[in-house]
Amino acid sequence: MKMNRRQFLGTASAAAFPFIFPGCTGLNVRKYAANEKVNVGVIGIGRISTTMDIPLAIKYTDLCRFTAVCDLDSKRLAHGVDFIQQQYKKLLGEDKAPVKTFADYHDLIDDPSIDAVEICIPDHWHTLVACAALAKGKHIWLQKPFSQTITEGRVIANLAKMQNRVVQVGSWQRSVMQFHRVCELALNGRIGDIVRVEVGCGCDKPGGSSEVQPVPGNLNYEMWLGPTDEKAPYNETRVHAQDLKKIASRPGWIQMAPYGWGMITNWGAHQIDIAQWGLGKDDSGPESVTGTCEWMDTTGGKLWNVHTTYDLHYSYNGGKTDVHVCNKYPMGIKFIGSTGEWLYCMRGKAVTPSDPSSSTGGKMKPLMASKVALLEPMKDPKTPLKTSDDHWKNWLEAIRAGDPTMTATNAEAAQRSSTACCLGQMCMELGRGKKDGATVKWCAKKEDTCCDKAKALMKPFARGKYNLPEELKRYGFCYDKVLRG
Ligand SMILES: NC(=O)c1ccc[n+]([C@@H]2O[C@H](COP(=O)([O-])OP(=O)(O)OC[C@H]3O[C@@H](n4cnc5c(N)ncnc54)[C@H](O)[C@@H]3O)[C@@H](O)[C@H]2O)c1
Repeated sequence: MKMNRRQFLGTASAAAFPFIFPGCTGLNVRKYAANEKVNVGVIGIGRISTTMDIPLAIKYTDLCRFTAVCDLDSKRLAHGVDFIQQQYKKLLGEDKAPVKTFADYHDLIDDPSIDAVEICIPDHWHTLVACAALAKGKHIWLQKPFSQTITEGRVIANLAKMQNRVVQVGSWQRSVMQFHRVCELALNGRIGDIVRVEVGCGCDKPGGSSEVQPVPGNLNYEMWLGPTDEKAPYNETRVHAQDLKKIASRPGWIQMAPYGWGMITNWGAHQIDIAQWGLGKDDSGPESVTGTCEWMDTTGGKLWNVHTTYDLHYSYNGGKTDVHVCNKYPMGIKFIGSTGEWLYCMRGKAVTPSDPSSSTGGKMKPLMASKVALLEPMKDPKTPLKTSDDHWKNWLEAIRAGDPTMTATNAEAAQRSSTACCLGQMCMELGRGKKDGATVKWCAKKEDTCCDKAKALMKPFARGKYNLPEELKRYGFCYDKVLRG
């Protein structure tokens, strides 16, 4: 049988390939012909894929074609087909555009006609799916936070490098002008050395219900739990809304450990990511994190259990830079320099569903400084920062150009930002019940800590067949080898 290029690539990236060329740094990444489109499959038809990741990419009809959806909730899976067909009706006037459906992500990933996948699923599932997709040679769009534990993230980042695939992470603030401007100015000395960064991430509120409910027939709940405790009783507020009219509402899991860690990784993956960017720490990180938090009140049958308030000091640059991540700050990132001046950036409207009463009240301008003149762009910055004017288009263009270095985010930087967020979560966890909280020391070079209790929190999630070594083995990769890089 003669294979076309797409079929060859699908086959070539399968199990045996990494061992044909031991030590090779990756699969060849191909360029697309002018009229060729990137075939995209979406894994997870929920709030973010239907409000952002599908509509903001599918509109580039000259660059891509959405051809497949996957969800373990059959109601949402069917909705995914309708949703994409409606988009193509609006965009191209097409009736009933063909969309394949998959209940298991492995089947979507194994489909050789699919070049790239958008991974828009809860955080506890990111690593298994991202690794499967990369192992099979797909380009990925991976929602933030990059991973749920530090070691998981290291495996994804190493695999992305080995496979030489395009990775764009959902930390889209890197593709927005004001964040880029402030970070480039901060990094290039406009306000001297950065001595302090104030980071506001909003604050979650208790809620949810611990009442046990029957599992809806359309939901594969056992799979939804994936690598977490299989005995967790079902309640809709642990998972996502069953009423499709509420698909755009905030799912319960996002404020429920171990599926999400709360604001420290949720908004932290945006805000701490920007702090890391402006400090030039895309390949390193802090030396320690110290601080305290309060935990949600779970009395009275409430379910959600992540932190509420938080007050964390991250030490960078041998203690010369203090990154203070604290709920008392308005949403946003403020860099304060040795000159005494400051630069601030945030989204245009800094009020979120999780923090409607944010102290900015939505009135703070997204780009501010102690003196307006400080915001003038750097003419010829010594260390320019990569950005784009559209995070989704940038991903598609990088795939079409066959250039994994073209994206505004990348796996290594995302792993480093995600590590900073996870270290905050680990610090809060280790300080549970202690008035003065805890300190976690960190060696960014070795990506390790001297604290055994903290080490235990770095491990990948695993339960039965839902474990990373097995997932990698399925595609012919050895976990230990990928972890070592
Ligand atoms: N970039 C941003 O601005 C931003 C904002 C909020 C959330 N997020 C992130 O986006 C991701 C998705 O969040 P959401 O709010 O859409 O969640 P959601 O619960 O609304 O949707 C997730 C969907 O994934 C499905 N799913 C879960 N596990 C699956 C699996 N193994 N295989 C196939 N389908 C699976 C669920 O059934 C659900 O339909 C999360 O990682 C979240 O942290 C990003």
